Order: sequence, then C-alpha cells, then structure tokens
Amino acid sequence: ASNGGMKMEKTLAMIKPDGLRGNYTERIKGAIVESGFRILEERIDELDEDRASRFYAEHSSRSFFPNLVKYMTSGPVCIMVLEKQNAIAEWRALIGPTDSVKAKATHPNSIRAMCGLDSEKNCVHGSDSLLSAQREISFFFEEETGEMVGKHDEL
Ligand code: TYD
Ligand code: MG
Repeated sequence: ASNGGMKMEKTLAMIKPDGLRGNYTERIKGAIVESGFRILEERIDELDEDRASRFYAEHSSRSFFPNLVKYMTSGPVCIMVLEKQNAIAEWRALIGPTDSVKAKATHPNSIRAMCGLDSEKNCVHGSDSLLSAQREISFFFEEETGEMVGKHDEL
C-alpha cells in the first residue's frame, strides 16, 4: 500500500492534572498538531475516585494505585481523541517513557520529558493498544455513565 501498510487509527490522549496546572496545554497541543495528528475531540473533564479507579482498573492491585487515583482526581484533565496513521504507537512515542526522570535522560524531546516530574506525575496519558484505545475513547466519549466497555464477555 502507498501508506506503507499503516492503518489510520484513533487514540485517547489525556493531559493529566499537573499538565493543566503547569499551563502546558498549548505546548502539548502544538506538539500534537506539529506531529501530524488531527484532534477529533477535545474536552475538559474531572475524574472522581470511582471513575479514576475504573479508568486505571488494570493497575488496581499495584502499590502505586492509591496515590495514582489521588493524583488523577487532584484537578481537571484535558481529554482528546487523536487521529493519524499508526496513531496509537505514534502518540506513545511522542509522550515518551512512563517515568519522566527516565524520559528526560533518554527521550529529551518527549512530552513527558518536557512537563512530567516522575513515574507518577508524568503529565500525559496515551492508550497502549487498539483495544485500550477503543475502550478509553468509549469511556470518555460514548458511555453516558463513563462505564468501561469491552468487558471480556462482550468481546
Ligand atoms: P502504566 O500503564 O504502566 O504506564 P503508562 O501511563 O506509560 O501506560 O501506568 C499507568 C500510570 O500509573 C502511569 O502513567 C503513572 C502510574 N504509575 C505510577 O504512579 N508508578 C509506577 O511505578 C508506574 C509503573 C505507573
Ligand atoms: Mg498504560
């Protein structure tokens, strides 16, 4: 194929509370547009404990989970749906490694290097797979209740 076989994809991007507090939104959106993503949807939201816990349900048994939920409910977030060829991997590449300390060392041009602090306060989220992207986009933009879709018995 002329596009090298890459598929047009949608992914969920989130600017986390410290990103908004630090006034990084315009710089992050600039990087998004410069990298060739289309922003299909965008809105400000605020997670309560229940929604933050459900969004990060896969990590519920991890020791960092309570602090993660506290952080994610500490202020408004900006939710976006991005579209591009190979968008899921491309957005993960642009945000850089989970730990912003590592990002600063190894991926200095990444968004997490630009505005993150550590492995918890890393300023942005990106879906990690096609299934996560579909589930996370539904979580914020389709389900009135914010209920996760894609439970195992529905796949
Ligand atoms: P994870 O899915 O491993 O990272 P990513 O956001 O890059 O997909 O973890 C989800 C979030 O959990 C991560 O963005 C921040 C938080 N977290 C911590 O607070 N401490 C940790 O040690 C890890 C691995 C993650
Ligand atoms: Mg993840």
